[in-house]
Amino acid sequence: MTQSLTITRPDDWHLHLRDGAMLQTVLPETARHFARAIIMPNLVPPVVNSADAAAYRTRIMAALPADLTFEPLMTLYLTEDTDPEDVAAAHASGLITSVKLYPAGATTNSSSGVRDFDKVRPVLEKMAEIGCPLCVHGEVTDRDIDIFDREAVFIDRVLDPIRRSIPGLRVVMEHITTKNGADYVLANDKDLGATITVQHLIFDRNDMLVGGMRPHYYCLPILKRREHREALRAAAFSGDKRFFLGTDSAPHPTHAKEAECCAAGCFTAPNALSILAQTFEEGGALDKLEGFTSLHGPAFYGLPVNTDTITLTKGDAEVAFPETLPAGDHTVTVFDPGFPLYWRVA
Ligand code: NCD
Ligand code: ZN
Repeated sequence: MTQSLTITRPDDWHLHLRDGAMLQTVLPETARHFARAIIMPNLVPPVVNSADAAAYRTRIMAALPADLTFEPLMTLYLTEDTDPEDVAAAHASGLITSVKLYPAGATTNSSSGVRDFDKVRPVLEKMAEIGCPLCVHGEVTDRDIDIFDREAVFIDRVLDPIRRSIPGLRVVMEHITTKNGADYVLANDKDLGATITVQHLIFDRNDMLVGGMRPHYYCLPILKRREHREALRAAAFSGDKRFFLGTDSAPHPTHAKEAECCAAGCFTAPNALSILAQTFEEGGALDKLEGFTSLHGPAFYGLPVNTDTITLTKGDAEVAFPETLPAGDHTVTVFDPGFPLYWRVA
């Protein structure tokens, strides 16, 4: 028996496209299904000013196959040297959609991020004034704070004080991974949203660690306890507009994942929608999928909803995805949830 579901074409509100050969490989995987994506600026070197963002946008569009349409929503990487006027001009011209805050050292390619939050206050104040959203990687980086507690501590020590002292600053808590994150969003009805990844909806830390360590499930913020996964599912399945999809699809070459010191990130772009459809169906929330993937994000960002649709079909046969894709001289391993998938994008 085939079941089918037609929804407004989704967007991805948190995506890593990388550059060069990797960009060529991964861009079609997203553009096949998603109309737009917020493009993370953590290249090496990072996308720190409007000239960088314009050049990166040009490289992305040049890598897009002719038969696909896709709109990259560019972001700037906030540093302690970011010029508020450059941000304002880039936002006013439509070149950028948001600015990304990485605490220095929090994740992949974040060494140019922020150490002293007071130094970026003028930029954040300007952003509040012009209505430019701030995308936040919400983890503290102190050696003394356990990696599983870093999101919760960030909310108390950094995020909440910033939001209180800069009223009107619109914030997206990127890839929330805890009940603390979901609860913080729920307690604030203005100027706050959160993205949730595929892997954090389906896995807890046992999936990554029990019976052997699975490097392809290692991402940041790290998978948490089951109770946190349950809170994220409840948030996504609730239909609450403050929660929307950011896959955080973050490709690394296979050798960098299967390494002594494994790189953080899951490459979920090829099967994100198959996994999500199945997960929402299992949660009895298939009717909430479209809001999560296609409606809540545009509402937060003040952008129009896509006018075209995609159709998801569920058949009896397992949907096959390639194990790896070639990326220049390397390969990139496609995220494998470890359970069979039956939904496909038609
Ligand atoms: C991301 C990457 O590889 O760029 N990795 C990850 O584990 N999510 C960075 C990020 O979003 O934290
Ligand atoms: Zn990311």
